[in-house]
Amino acid sequence: MTLVHSGNAERDLAETARRVLPGGGFGNVSQEVIIAQGHGGRVRDVDGNEYVDYLLGSGPMLVGHAHPEVIEAVQAQLSAGTTFFTSNPHGIRLAAEIVSAVPCAERVRFVSTGSEADLYAMRLARAHRGRDRILKFEGGYHGMSDYALMSLAPRRSGNFPQPIPDSAGIPKSVGDEMLVAPFNDLETAASLVREHRDELAAIIVEPVQRLISPKPGFLEGLRRLTADNGILLIFDEVVTGFRFAYGGAQSYFGVTPDICTLGKVIGGGFPLAAIAGRADIMAHFDKGAVGEDAYLPQIGTLSGNPIAAVAGLKTLEILRRPGSYEQLFRTGRSLMEGLARILEDAGIAARIAGDAPMFDVVFTDRDVTDYRSSLGDQETMKALNVLLRRHGILKGDSKYYVSLAHTEEDVRFTLEAFAASIAELRRLRPG
Ligand SMILES: Cc1ncc(COP(=O)(O)O)c(C=O)c1O
Repeated sequence: MTLVHSGNAERDLAETARRVLPGGGFGNVSQEVIIAQGHGGRVRDVDGNEYVDYLLGSGPMLVGHAHPEVIEAVQAQLSAGTTFFTSNPHGIRLAAEIVSAVPCAERVRFVSTGSEADLYAMRLARAHRGRDRILKFEGGYHGMSDYALMSLAPRRSGNFPQPIPDSAGIPKSVGDEMLVAPFNDLETAASLVREHRDELAAIIVEPVQRLISPKPGFLEGLRRLTADNGILLIFDEVVTGFRFAYGGAQSYFGVTPDICTLGKVIGGGFPLAAIAGRADIMAHFDKGAVGEDAYLPQIGTLSGNPIAAVAGLKTLEILRRPGSYEQLFRTGRSLMEGLARILEDAGIAARIAGDAPMFDVVFTDRDVTDYRSSLGDQETMKALNVLLRRHGILKGDSKYYVSLAHTEEDVRFTLEAFAASIAELRRLRPG
């Protein structure tokens, strides 16, 4: 196996980046890698080093990079015009496909990013219920709004339900609008709902929180709890939508929320996200239906962009083909089992958190059930990610995303690279 090394092009570009970008990068990932191209399940950096890619653009490239059918559809639309601000046929067809696929989706509103989708979903819930507060779970990622940055990645353990802001610049008053509970702890959520039911508009949750699977009954319990107390349930399916199943995590787990947010996969690698939900709730986006006072204005220059919509439609068409999800789960399971075997053989205490479409190693001897138990030994994780990259594996700081384009050869290469990286890790950090 050849190790990859930084060459001159990357070094020169990194120097320019340090001059013009805060922190020398786009702020998204910790590594300094600069990727120039991607095909299928692999990407190349500017020096020509190839990686098996489990970053997948942070998730959108579920059918692989530069999929020939997606590229062909996009190229056809490029020469027909790239954005109009009005409705366009592809966006309308994409909305219709989402409505037919996703259980809670009776109406769809497009935006450009998952952050926006989550911000509007929370505002929509407030508009519909006429209450201000939202309950979220510690470690739950709902984009970068002031509200979402409450207890996303707290460095110190606070007391539930008091949120801790994860960013400078957030007004103190925002903390009063959010309540925080531990994921997978239905009892705590229920007692907060009992105490605050007249103030709560919604509970927002990632059905699989980062890589933490819901315990059996947790999502069902949230559904019952919210329905019984007149509170809306929002599933953030920006990651899980069309990834765990064609109808998303709500169809995978059989629990239908009132509203969901979608992103990543539905834009096929272009900026597109959506809020989808019950028609009576989504009616707040329609002044004609709800009147001036209940109306929620929502405008975005690129919302429903036709290039993103054709890429999304073609991506969904590929995913609908027989055997797609079976193949995705088969690839993911081979990787998860392979990593677990290597770690066990090395005698390293670790858990593989997540499920076949997305997972990672957590260096811990505890079960991973909530934010605090999901942290594990972060230094070891960081060191392993660096070693993996040197062995030709690109991944996020705490996630492997699996694609339909990853081949058996990619899996074999990955397991070899992982075994070699673990052996080096043991030499570097014995014990
Ligand atoms: C669950 C979840 N919600 C929302 C977002 C925000 O999406 P975006 O990066 O498109 O703003 C992300 C991004 O990774 C996410 O994982």
